[in-house]
Amino acid sequence: MVKNILITGGAGYIGSHIAEILLKKNKKIFLIDNLSTGHRKLINKKAKFFKLDIHNKDKVRKIIEKYHIDSIIHLAAHLIIGEGQKKPKKYFKNNVLGTQKILEACKRTKVKNFIFSSTAAIYKEGQYKVSEDSQIKPKTVYGKTKIKAESLIKKFSKKNKINYGILRYFNIAGSSPSGNIGLVNKKSDHLFKNFSIELMKKKPKLNIYGTDYKTKDGSCIRDFIHVSDIAEIHYLVLEKINKLNTSKILNCGYNKGTSVMEVAKEFKRQSSKKVDIVYANKRKDDLIKIIASNNKLRRFVKWRPKFNNLTKIVKSCIVWEKNIR
Ligand SMILES: NC(=O)c1ccc[n+]([C@@H]2O[C@H](COP(=O)([O-])OP(=O)(O)OC[C@H]3O[C@@H](n4cnc5c(N)ncnc54)[C@H](O)[C@@H]3O)[C@@H](O)[C@H]2O)c1
Repeated sequence: MVKNILITGGAGYIGSHIAEILLKKNKKIFLIDNLSTGHRKLINKKAKFFKLDIHNKDKVRKIIEKYHIDSIIHLAAHLIIGEGQKKPKKYFKNNVLGTQKILEACKRTKVKNFIFSSTAAIYKEGQYKVSEDSQIKPKTVYGKTKIKAESLIKKFSKKNKINYGILRYFNIAGSSPSGNIGLVNKKSDHLFKNFSIELMKKKPKLNIYGTDYKTKDGSCIRDFIHVSDIAEIHYLVLEKINKLNTSKILNCGYNKGTSVMEVAKEFKRQSSKKVDIVYANKRKDDLIKIIASNNKLRRFVKWRPKFNNLTKIVKSCIVWEKNIR
């Protein structure tokens, strides 16, 4: 069993949910975060927190050695698609070189397992349901940095004999049923966050970017997965790669497409205000439709999603948005 886990980006949206679940499983949790997009209020009090940049290899290595870290969950990254298009160097430095630094800090230590958060944004446009063997061709700088980081991890693992779990997340949404953590960053440009923020206004307007795509209702389609379900996958995959001494690349989604329009309608339905759904222009970098084939994940671990329901996901977002005001 894994014991001492270091989470980079542990003060972020997904990192805080993973920490919450792993602490419940009685793991010792250590968090590294430079708080660039993370938040102090998301830091779990039962974890040990270091305000640190992942590029600081020597300090990271000292933490790994001092606390006998056996597993790393590497989430620290920049992830706003639009920003990445404008600032490719910033994204390359943080997501690719940052990953390289973390890997170097693991060299000749007791780290045995490395989990990495990759993304559906690495797949080629136009494939709809993708498996891990589907064609890779990221459309965005962000996607390109993630696929580069994946190959660094694979190379490192071969040379240094560590197990990796590369998890390709689809679109994450929702917040923990504990009510203590959720997505804070208003600039994250997440659909569910944008809609939640709008719903708190007097006259909410929900923008749908593109309404004449060749999809069931003309809007984009995504595989939205609740953040607590994603967090649990980390626990299951980490224990399994450790037990079997193996490495895996796994899609993480529900195997189900939901349109942006359906999401907007659900937000509207759950609001007592007059909500306008606004048809806005398409955005250049949006994939039209993409969902995960999660067969490989389900074959590897016994995972039963607990929040695979749009009503529940939207409700958890609204509750959280009210909480943080
Ligand atoms: N949210 C999604 O829908 C989604 C989808 C696919 C993949 N991912 C991946 O999941 C991971 C976590 O995303 P999130 O949604 O929790 O975002 P987030 O911005 O909330 O979390 C990222 C965290 O990393 C920290 N960080 C960034 N650069 C750092 C550095 N150089 N040193 C130390 N800390 C640093 C930030 O302060 C932040 O707390 C990212 O790697 C992202 O690419 C997210």
